[in-house]
Amino acid sequence: MNELLISPSLLSCDFARLASEVERVEAAGADWLHVDVMDGHFVPNLTIGPPVVEAIAKVARRPLDVHLMITDPLRYARHYAKAGAHVLTFHAEVCATPSAARDVIRAFRAEGVAKVGVSLNPDTPLERMLDYADELDLVLVMSVFPGFGGQKFMPEVLPKVRGLRERGFERDIEMDGGINAATIAACAEAGTNVFVAGSAVFGAPDMAATIRSFKSEAARARAAAHA
Ligand code: DX5
Ligand code: ZN
Repeated sequence: MNELLISPSLLSCDFARLASEVERVEAAGADWLHVDVMDGHFVPNLTIGPPVVEAIAKVARRPLDVHLMITDPLRYARHYAKAGAHVLTFHAEVCATPSAARDVIRAFRAEGVAKVGVSLNPDTPLERMLDYADELDLVLVMSVFPGFGGQKFMPEVLPKVRGLRERGFERDIEMDGGINAATIAACAEAGTNVFVAGSAVFGAPDMAATIRSFKSEAARARAAAHA
């Protein structure tokens, strides 16, 4: 079974202290570091470009999980791969056809990223990516509309995780948006194994205890689902 992993989103960290925030969240038990890249076009917010990802990669000891919320992932594949993305995920919505999505997947692979992922907005059905699911290492199911941290979890996306597992997708399924101690169990029960959390981790009074409780809650929910 896939390992349960916590990928705290740096979007909620103190950007003026990026290096120490990376060290702090790694010391607290982060498995991956989720990096939200927004282009002000696919989503109404602008965040992190390749030089900043490269700076994070220099200080990070955990793999960078780079979530591209950008209109033109093909154009920037090389930049983000070279900057140090371990997981590189684009959005299915930016590809007009399955063949356009395959081009993006192949470009990411050609740049040598370890894991290639696709992400689905809350209102994008699974059917949008089933055609090319066999070429993916990871599917990132959004549980909020992308653009900002601190939004409310949308449980209506959970059937997509179940649907993927029912169709035999055995690789990583990641969920992103509104994950906290109250919502993580439902995600794990449905079949999610990678959990992004921004505000719930960086806003926690005790970050290590929070990450530990996320992991134990997820493990408990998964065991109960398989009992
Ligand atoms: C939303 C981003 C998320 C966000 C999650 O557009 O993709 O990664 O940072 O933040 P929380 O956990 O606060 O919902
Ligand atoms: Zn994200």
